[in-house]
Amino acid sequence: MAPQRRGAPKAPEGSGAAERRRPSSTKSVRAPREVQRKWLRTSVLGACAVLAGLLLWSSMGGDDGVTEVLAHRGEILPGRFIEVPCSEDYDSHRRFEGCSPRKCGRGITDTVITRDEAQRIRSIAEKGLSLGGSDGGASILDLHSGALSVGKHFVNLYRYFGDKIQTVFSEEDFRLYRDVRQKVQLTIAQAFGISASSLYLTKPTFFSRINSTEARTAHDEYWHAHVDKVTYGSFDYTSLLYLSDYLDDFSGGRFVFMEEGANRTVEPRAGRVSFFTSGSENLHRVEKVQWGTRYAVTIAFTCNPDHGIADPVFT
Ligand SMILES: *[C@@H]1O[C@H](CO)[C@@H](O)[C@H](O)[C@H]1NC(C)=O
Ligand SMILES: *[C@@H]1O[C@H](CO)[C@@H](O)[C@H](O)[C@H]1NC(C)=O
Repeated sequence: MAPQRRGAPKAPEGSGAAERRRPSSTKSVRAPREVQRKWLRTSVLGACAVLAGLLLWSSMGGDDGVTEVLAHRGEILPGRFIEVPCSEDYDSHRRFEGCSPRKCGRGITDTVITRDEAQRIRSIAEKGLSLGGSDGGASILDLHSGALSVGKHFVNLYRYFGDKIQTVFSEEDFRLYRDVRQKVQLTIAQAFGISASSLYLTKPTFFSRINSTEARTAHDEYWHAHVDKVTYGSFDYTSLLYLSDYLDDFSGGRFVFMEEGANRTVEPRAGRVSFFTSGSENLHRVEKVQWGTRYAVTIAFTCNPDHGIADPVFT
């Protein structure tokens, strides 16, 4: 109560001051009212122009931070490799000489997996994901663990469908998946100068289907910047095989390597393989999908045989 009472007398005093100032200001302004109006119009127009310019600048990519495209959607790259200094992330893990990254970097190739193979792999993803689907915009299917997004959770596809799963997937599907995994493994080994047999498939390895529907749970929030080795300790080399085309099948959804002073994007293209060492030298994120549906498969490798997993099998 006390503060209110003390403040109360101030109000008339304040408004009185405003009252006293008003007559003089009206007088001085009356003559150049036309000028003032013109000036006002000019400044409003000017502000609008500046605002429009800012909006245009931001829509043209001025502040989306993209500074370089490593792989355009339209180009067919036999192979591009960019070496980056390794982070210290590998030091806190057991080292496997001849496998644990000494040379770090990122690569992209469009000639290891054919468009036809990508199309067939995508059919596997479509079949499996059609059995479930997240309420939010991001669904996953892990053929190894059987994890499938359904609503706000995951189910185990193999447990849930039991023997009926054989009516969904064929032996050929699993063979194709294994062939693709092998080709990607060889590509990574070659690029980093290590033996393919020192690499082991590790989990999670999964299909993803992303559309523009708003996230419902944290599992749907794929767009945050992250380091794979921090998220999944077992990862040493991460790869992504894209199964749909940027701007034909969806927009947004570009992969972004984030560095101080530069963001570098990979535009998805069906059959494009993007791979990189999993440490913080390759901090990355995926842009939010704006429209359409983006399919990809994440295939990860470890140097630690204890973290290795077998290819999924048709049983
Ligand atoms: C890179 O992208 C992030 C997130 O979009 C942004 O905050 C950052 O400013 C960008 N960096 C550069 C150098 O453009
Ligand atoms: C996105 O996918 C979910 C299933 O995961 C579906 O319910 C939703 O309708 C889709 N949204 C759009 C915009 O296609």
